[in-house]
Amino acid sequence: MTTELAIETNGLVKIFGENRAVDGVDLAVAPGTVYGVLGPNGAGKTTTVRMLATLLRPDGGEARVFGKDVVKDADAVRGLVSLTGQYASVDEDLTGTENLVLLARLLGHARPAARTRADQLLEAFGLSEAAGKQVKNYSGGMRRRIDIAASILNTPQLLFLDEPTTGLDPRSRNQVWDIVRAVVAQGTTVMLTTQYLDEADQLASRIAVIDHGKVIAEGTKGELKASVGAGSVHLRLREAEQRPEAERVLSAALDATVQLDPDPVALTARVNGHGTEQGAAEQAARALAELARRGITVDNFSLGQPSLDEVFLALTDRKGVAA
Ligand SMILES: Nc1ncnc2c1ncn2[C@@H]1O[C@H](COP(=O)(O)OP(=O)(O)OP(=O)(O)O)[C@@H](O)[C@H]1O
Ligand SMILES: [Mg+2]
Repeated sequence: MTTELAIETNGLVKIFGENRAVDGVDLAVAPGTVYGVLGPNGAGKTTTVRMLATLLRPDGGEARVFGKDVVKDADAVRGLVSLTGQYASVDEDLTGTENLVLLARLLGHARPAARTRADQLLEAFGLSEAAGKQVKNYSGGMRRRIDIAASILNTPQLLFLDEPTTGLDPRSRNQVWDIVRAVVAQGTTVMLTTQYLDEADQLASRIAVIDHGKVIAEGTKGELKASVGAGSVHLRLREAEQRPEAERVLSAALDATVQLDPDPVALTARVNGHGTEQGAAEQAARALAELARRGITVDNFSLGQPSLDEVFLALTDRKGVAA
């Protein structure tokens, strides 16, 4: 038996006027996982999700959700998916309970069942106290939680979460992450778009990085990190004035782009190390020796796996070079 993919796209395209917002995207998402779609503003994330959710018709290529074509079998796809949009759909003037009951009724639940489901979700999402308040009086975090609650009134096979935590404080983000984990534990597949690398790192088992409508990298977190080099060095200098020279020395010794951190004495650079950790350690040691030889004092040094942030910068760098 072959396992059916939750999402499969081949050469998916969406064009707005002259703008190829989605420009030949291939994706394969295994069921029961969180799949991260990561990209900067305007990369094409929402447009991709809207095509997969049948809200927008593709201009080219094809897409299937659990084997159903999003154009030819759009009705079947609609029965399988649920979408929490970047700009979501609960009614501001209704209370939390009223919103969920109304939506549950629209989904065909009888009134008592709708009320039970609404209460259950409000409780699970920590919104019981706010249940009787109008949604327009909710904080951003509460609002995002009620949006997600609304999208899982019926447990969907596939849930699209489009930037579910943009603008939330760290505590609210953590609550949303817990909700996502709980939803996946129920067997739902989640496609999560985000601009936050740590969010993808926390939740997603595989990640597609998209930019200008194209997938520029795809894989597990480990694969994406490994594709950028074996390691990453972080340095703190004694003197901020020595940073420009340290940058030159490091970029020559490591043959890599050196990133200047917001902290004026700190630098970060990727270490290729010919793909091995030992190679990376040797290369980093040579770079340190060269800094010492030039009289640059290093107060703190560490060598670690690159963060997804570094991966992202590296990928966009590489693209810049190629273009
Ligand atoms: N309905 C539309 N009409 C015209 N252009 C559009 C439309 N929707 C999106 N675009 C354009 O398509 C491109 C991709 O937009 P999209 O909303 O998919 O990006 P995104 O990755 O979701 O960005 P963000 O992180 O800002 O939400 C952008 O250049 C955007 O301006
Ligand atoms: Mg978007």
